[in-house]
Amino acid sequence: MFVSENLSVNAAGNLAIGGVDTVELAKEYGTPLYVMDEQEIRRTLRRFHDSINKYYDGKGSVHYASKAFSCMEMCRIVASEGDGLDAVSIGELYTALKAGFPMEKVGFHGNNKTDEELEFAVDNKVGHIVVDNIPELHRLERIAAEKNAVPHIMFRIKPGISAHTHDKIMTGQIDSKFGFALETGEAFEAVKEALSCKNVELAGVHCHIGSQIFDIVPFEEAAKVMLRFIAKVKNELGFEIRELNLGGGFGIKYTSQDDPQPFENYLERVSAVVKEECAKLNIEQPFIYIEPGRSVAAPAGITLYTVGARKIIPDIRTYISIDGGMPDNPRYILYGSEYDAVVANKAGEERTEKVTIAGKCCESGDLIGENMPLQHAEAGDIIAVCATGAYNYSMSSNYNRLQKPAVVFVNNGESRIAVKRETLDDIIRNDI
Ligand code: LLP
Repeated sequence: MFVSENLSVNAAGNLAIGGVDTVELAKEYGTPLYVMDEQEIRRTLRRFHDSINKYYDGKGSVHYASKAFSCMEMCRIVASEGDGLDAVSIGELYTALKAGFPMEKVGFHGNNKTDEELEFAVDNKVGHIVVDNIPELHRLERIAAEKNAVPHIMFRIKPGISAHTHDKIMTGQIDSKFGFALETGEAFEAVKEALSCKNVELAGVHCHIGSQIFDIVPFEEAAKVMLRFIAKVKNELGFEIRELNLGGGFGIKYTSQDDPQPFENYLERVSAVVKEECAKLNIEQPFIYIEPGRSVAAPAGITLYTVGARKIIPDIRTYISIDGGMPDNPRYILYGSEYDAVVANKAGEERTEKVTIAGKCCESGDLIGENMPLQHAEAGDIIAVCATGAYNYSMSSNYNRLQKPAVVFVNNGESRIAVKRETLDDIIRNDI
């Protein structure tokens, strides 16, 4: 009935998440409101790390990709599960640090890290710095030498695999701004260069082929390509790369049309491929990392809005206007992403209408979706947009000088605030 398993209809006929009535949440905290279900996050993280234990004999680690959703409370939850973190900016690193996250379990990414960011990562002993290009390697080498440090690095590599997803979120192909190409020999040269650097230690190689991928084959192919590269380095340079980061990208269910694989299947098949390939290539099985972001955060989250108006354009469409929109969820205007929505206070009723949910920005493209099946919605109703836990809060803006919504966590029937709603004074806090 709903796209995420943690959603249900309660005795009052309202939508519940993690055992909490969403209509009550809207009343208590106001709308728009991001709601995250702690148990759903924990369940997914466990599914990932338990699968690594089961299928890859525990020789691997989960690094949650915090770009999907980052706040201090999320970092604390990931830390308490014993998992690591993938961070892509000094802001994400700082959030983790302030949340008391063990920085040795953090991988730091980015195709253009600033000196300030590299210094911050070295000072705070981030576990891996995933180096994207040669100038960055040299900058890091200089910074590390100044600080008498030897950070562990990985190289971001483009495995040349194309996965079927939106072209703006495809990253593994040669024409990508991320990382070193294999085909051109660039990645091999980078390894040689790193081996001549005294102040960095080459620990591993990293790839990420894209996001919201349903097919397991491209993940298997990427693993094979990376292992062949590790074997080439061993055979030609006599150096054994011990760690392999396979990135994230596991697809989730946004609408009833989506049919993702259970995450366990990815790990079962990819682990088998890694083991077979290593035996064939005569290399040690590397320690593996995976970096799921969307799959951990998206299904755990919903966004609640209040309907302000219902506008019928005869024979054309019905607009349902809500009190949020592209500033809290820019994914429809950016990628045409589809979502499932429910009238939270009529959650048990049939979805008899097809509507366009419109945001409140001065911009016609500010929509959450078109042709969305929905219960009859009127002013005052609460709408829940489902599976918004990833890349919504983290991509939110203050467009039209709107305040960013609060983030509330629910946990087994209880709710608590994790990020406060912005105030009007927050809107002008840096204005002079
Ligand atoms: N690792 C690396 C190096 C990545 O670049 C990404 C995502 C991930 C892991 C996590 O991928 P996930 O498991 O979340 O698919 N804003 C877009 C998604 C951009 C993904 C960027 N990289 C969206 O809203 O769909």
